[in-house]
Amino acid sequence: EIPRVTGVQTCALPISAIGEVVLQPGSLRGSEGGPLPSSASTGAQMVASTLAVAVVAVLGARVTKKSVTCRATAVKKKGVRVVEGKEIPWNLFSPKAPYQGKVVKNKVQEHTITKPNSDAPGDANWETAHVTFDHGGNVPYIEGQSIGIIAPGPDKKGETPAKIRLYSIGSSAVGDFEDSKTVSLCVKRVVDVEEEKWPLKHFNREVGEDKPDKAGTHFPNNKVYRGVCSNHICDMNVGDDVLITGPTGAEMLLPEDPNANIIMLATGTGIAPMRSYMRLLFNDKVGEAADGTRKFKGKAWLFMGVPYANSLLYDDEHVEYKTKYPDQFQYDYAISREQKNEAGQKMYIQTKMAEYTEELWNLMQDSKTHVYMCGLKGMEQGMEECFSEIASKNNLVWKDFAKQMKKDHRYHVEVY
Ligand code: FAD
Ligand code: A2P
Repeated sequence: EIPRVTGVQTCALPISAIGEVVLQPGSLRGSEGGPLPSSASTGAQMVASTLAVAVVAVLGARVTKKSVTCRATAVKKKGVRVVEGKEIPWNLFSPKAPYQGKVVKNKVQEHTITKPNSDAPGDANWETAHVTFDHGGNVPYIEGQSIGIIAPGPDKKGETPAKIRLYSIGSSAVGDFEDSKTVSLCVKRVVDVEEEKWPLKHFNREVGEDKPDKAGTHFPNNKVYRGVCSNHICDMNVGDDVLITGPTGAEMLLPEDPNANIIMLATGTGIAPMRSYMRLLFNDKVGEAADGTRKFKGKAWLFMGVPYANSLLYDDEHVEYKTKYPDQFQYDYAISREQKNEAGQKMYIQTKMAEYTEELWNLMQDSKTHVYMCGLKGMEQGMEECFSEIASKNNLVWKDFAKQMKKDHRYHVEVY
């Protein structure tokens, strides 16, 4: 029998408007330390109106003439999700009803944050861009979340607009201008160029069709595949419109405890969520304590992996944090195509981490320590290579230890 839902108000949990979502003050997570910007509700009018007719699923309840028995009530509050007891912004904007933002100039970082051919002479994939969108306060998010971007297309199968692509947010909740009105991404431009030894399975530019991109790079003499969304974003100019979905993602959130230790492992654009954390921990006004020190009292340790020294991302910011907070911030990088370890092996982040195995292992034994990993698939395997020996010396199996850390919400992985 399908229950007829009458008198839902008696069952429903209180429904608050989206603008009343309260993020925990004083904790790392939800760094805005108060209600989401009230403008969130204007941007999410469809959300508010949906709330008014909130769908209440009364699971297993039998509706009789006399009473409504509510055994389990699930009120889906649109625009938020409860994570570990706290509400966080969640899919305020869907692919069908995205938010239309605008590209703004970012004075904190240049649009293109890598140098021409920084990946290698003649390498098509040298460009990574830092692009900032004005969302007018309508797309609130917290550190560690992602947004979706809809490119006009055509997509791989000719669809227009293209399907959404997810991007980790690279700015802290307050945004690069600390006014809670912008969101920034760190996007690598995908360009596959056909070579004799490397025929392309897919291409969207015939020989002669590839035009110079915003950075001036083009390959008119080859078949080329240009990533649909990454090229759309990297080619954006100030004032352009952008279609945003989300925010989404609960895997990479910061712990609430200001005494937590944070080990960050990033390859390439995997630095984006780490940047969002570090802006909050070491830069933003909201992360400052009354006595001028930082609210964050733990240790943050960044391992960043890139192919060339030239392609280090946000190095200037990391050096600044290290100079200002030498006791709290440690910064190591692995430059895979320029450095080798003593055994002559390629320097990946796990190779660099192996120089500190004991220190990292001991740090991970502390229940306040969280590991964040973002970037290339395959990074997890590297962790095993790095820690299996020390784990077995301690009569543990690394995989089990990592599994337990995951269960304890201390091991966070976002690879793509
Ligand atoms: P696409 O057009 O999707 O092309 C990608 C590849 O698909 C090409 O190299 C091509 O070889 C292949 N291809 C082309 N046509 C076909 C076909 N017909 N069939 C099969 N394969 C085909 N990226 C970042 O730069 N920064 C981030 O911070 C970031 N964060 C992410 C976070 C998450 C949670 C996830 C899931 C992904 C993230 N990404 C990030 C990756 C991003 O979502 C995109 O995948 C990336 O930008 C490439 O998208 P594109 O549209 O440019 O390329
Ligand atoms: P390499 O490309 O020399 O093999 P980007 O995204 O800018 O290309 O950077 C990714 C970085 O991560 C590169 O230095 C790349 O090295 C490195 N890398 C590739 N595979 C792995 C892996 N399995 N674990 C750790 N790092 C990796």
